[in-house]
Amino acid sequence: FARKPFITGNWKLNPQSKSEAVDLARGIADSITGESPSDVALFVPFPYLETVQGIVGDKLIVGAEMITPEINGAFTGGVSPCMLKSMGIEWALAGHSERRTLNKESDEDINKQCKMLVEEGMNVVLCIGESLDEFEKDLVDAVCEIQLKKGLSEIGADQMSQVTIAYEPVWAIGTGKVATPEIAQSVHKSIRSITDKMYGSSVAESTRILYGGSVSPGSVDGLLEKPDIDGALVGGASLDTTSFGRIINFE
Ligand code: G3H
Repeated sequence: FARKPFITGNWKLNPQSKSEAVDLARGIADSITGESPSDVALFVPFPYLETVQGIVGDKLIVGAEMITPEINGAFTGGVSPCMLKSMGIEWALAGHSERRTLNKESDEDINKQCKMLVEEGMNVVLCIGESLDEFEKDLVDAVCEIQLKKGLSEIGADQMSQVTIAYEPVWAIGTGKVATPEIAQSVHKSIRSITDKMYGSSVAESTRILYGGSVSPGSVDGLLEKPDIDGALVGGASLDTTSFGRIINFE
């Protein structure tokens, strides 16, 4: 691998209770034994962050699924990067398609989140990807380019070590329709080339680009064999200890 593989799980609005979260976190932590072939991260709901972190220790990274890009003040319901950092949480997702669609987050909103995270010394996984309609209209590379450029606006090359990119075709999320390794590789290659134009080859070569969308133990190997696919952002399968354990260990 040109870059160390990075397997990440996004629990979304799951599991439904703290005791289930504890069991899941324990199961996942137990499946990481010896020399893991990949870095592993879990993005979990705010109420579970501290508990999950206590369970997994330094075996894997624990991060937030979103942030509110403000320092403090009248933002009811918000959770700021500073609050997370004070709890030892140093990673967050930004721009997940569910936040873009259901919460109407714009590229500008997402850029504000990315900038604040890197300015606070934290790490961000910026999620980008096209809808089914855009896929059918052959707009994949164009959509990814816009989301990438807007999402990373005003983020400097020196801050790019804090940025991971996740390509998630919306039509593949939670549908069981995983993109073929060939399709995913072609988009990842294009994302790397846009990153190269924005930041130069050394940043482009060191930035990890993850694929997300119905990743399972059966599909992860074929995806990771491709040169520009550096890992996965796993939704549904990260809620199952056996499946996620197999994905982490490339079994
Ligand atoms: O964040 C993860 C993605 O939305 C993928 O979800 O693996 O359930 O398709 P999925």
